[in-house]
Amino acid sequence: MSASAEMPYFIKPSVNLTATEKEAAYVRAHAAIQATIGEEEDELLKMVTINSLLKTFLPYFYWVGFYLVRGEQELVVGPYQGTLGCLTIQFGRGVCGAVAASGQTKIVADTHALQQGKEHIACDPNSRSEIVLPVRRRADGSLLGVFDVDSTLTGSFDAVDQRWLEKILATF
Ligand code: SME
Repeated sequence: MSASAEMPYFIKPSVNLTATEKEAAYVRAHAAIQATIGEEEDELLKMVTINSLLKTFLPYFYWVGFYLVRGEQELVVGPYQGTLGCLTIQFGRGVCGAVAASGQTKIVADTHALQQGKEHIACDPNSRSEIVLPVRRRADGSLLGVFDVDSTLTGSFDAVDQRWLEKILATF
C-alpha cells in the first residue's frame, strides 16, 4: 500500500500550540503517563501508553510511535498511532535511521526541504515537521529504537518537546 495524501476518517490534521499551551499539555500528558504506567516494566505496555496519551493531549501529534532495532543495522516499525508507517528503515536512512546511527535527537522544521528517500522517508506526505529521539534502556544503555513524532504543520517541534519527551522516554 502506498502513502496517500488523503487522511482516513479517524485522523485529523495537526494544530500547533503556543509555548504556554504546549508546556501545560505536556504537564498533563506526563502526569497521565506516570499514573498509568506506575511500576510497569513491560516495554510494549509502556510504548502503547505513551503513544496513546501523548496523542490525546498534544493536538499536533499527527503520527506518534516507535521504530525498534532489529539486528545490527535495521529499524522495524513498532507500536504507533497514525497513518500507515514504513515497515523497515535502514540505519542511516531518513531521519529515524540517522538518529539510530548517531544516537542524537533530530528536530526537522520542514521535512519537504530534506532530500527525499535519503534524508527523509515520506511514509505519509502529510508529515511536514518532526522530532526523532533515540530510546535507550536504563538497565544497560542498549538502543531499544527511536521515538518518532510527525506533524502536518511546519515547525511544530522545539527544545520544549525534546525536554519533555526525553523525560517521558527515561521510563525505559
Ligand atoms: N519520518 C521518518 C519516517 C517514518 S514516518 O514518518 C512514520 C523518517 O524520515 O525517518
